[in-house]
Amino acid sequence: MEPKQIIEAEDQHSSGTYYKRPVVLVRGEGTRVWDIDGREYLDCTAGIGVAALGHAHPVVIEALREQASRLITCQELFYNDQRAALFKRLDAVTPSSINRFFLSNSGAEANEAAIKFARAATGRTEIVATMRGYHGKTLGALSATWGNDFRKPFEPLVPDFHTIPFNRPEAIADTISDATAAVLVEIVQGEGGVRPATEEFMQALRLACTEHGALLVIDEVQTGFGRTGRLFAFEHHSVTPDILTLAKSVAGGLPMGVTAFGDTVGQLAKQSHTSTFGGNPLVCAVAERVIAHIVAADLPTHAAEHGRHLMNAIRGLSKPQVREVRGLGLMIGIELKQPAGKVVRSLMDEGILALLAGPKVIRLLPPLIIEASDIDQIANAFDKVLT
Ligand SMILES: Cc1ncc(COP(=O)(O)O)c(C=O)c1O
Repeated sequence: MEPKQIIEAEDQHSSGTYYKRPVVLVRGEGTRVWDIDGREYLDCTAGIGVAALGHAHPVVIEALREQASRLITCQELFYNDQRAALFKRLDAVTPSSINRFFLSNSGAEANEAAIKFARAATGRTEIVATMRGYHGKTLGALSATWGNDFRKPFEPLVPDFHTIPFNRPEAIADTISDATAAVLVEIVQGEGGVRPATEEFMQALRLACTEHGALLVIDEVQTGFGRTGRLFAFEHHSVTPDILTLAKSVAGGLPMGVTAFGDTVGQLAKQSHTSTFGGNPLVCAVAERVIAHIVAADLPTHAAEHGRHLMNAIRGLSKPQVREVRGLGLMIGIELKQPAGKVVRSLMDEGILALLAGPKVIRLLPPLIIEASDIDQIANAFDKVLT
């Protein structure tokens, strides 16, 4: 099909729930993707923070090739060598208090499971989430997600969800109580504008949860596996979650969600939560090798250094349109004093794919393997489009 026909076919037949840019991407390698006409882009979207190792990484290709010819599907009704290896790998990289993992296929599903597990474990129903928080768009996860545009058309949502202001430790006492099953929070709010949590806020949440017997659910769907300069973003703080939710980077581009927990959740009833595709050997094989590679290559440190370099390079341009450059590692937000959509389009004309995080924030989530020369290219493009 010609590019025009592809765009027409998608516009005619896709759900219509996505904003789309008029570019047909057909190939990727490393930090680069190419459109159907052969135009190259530096990909600072990485599938919205998914392609941690970049595109077409040999670790991913090899694991896929090997496992595709052995066994693709095997529900958790049976045991499987790849799934067992992934469980052991996840156990090795998470805190010692976490040793069980529910495998699903997306971030929203990881949070759905967390909400259900917290309710089952505590016998309580109340869930507390934060303003500007994003946890996915399935009904349970959406009930914890902030924003009327997302929520209103689907009300009534799941009952007993409450919201507290983000980064306001003094404002949590009124909402977290002995009726709270769980508090859901991101360490860096991603969709909400790339806003890192403060140490005081995280400590106050941990304390309130412990005091009231509620579970602290840290949503690391976007921040997990090195993105923020640590393997998990909660490692920037002196807190440990009761439940940790993961997705995006975990399987190097393949769909997977993980709900990680330990004794504070305890034993769950058989059949209380299951998934047909969750934990399939194909994705497990890839995830196990991707996590091993992220750790062995110390990509979190690479992300910390290159993220700092990239943020400083953009700050160093001293552009009057920029209100703030913030973030952690390679999760970077550039807040403008004006709507950012036009700048994102101009960046694309300069060969840089970037994301929005709210109307005025440009979000960069490049692959963790980004190099200094990529950073120069991004900074030069910002210099040009903001002039
Ligand atoms: C922090 C966070 N949680 C949950 C989700 C939902 O993940 P998914 O789109 O895979 O359902 C996202 C997606 O952007 C996210 O950033």
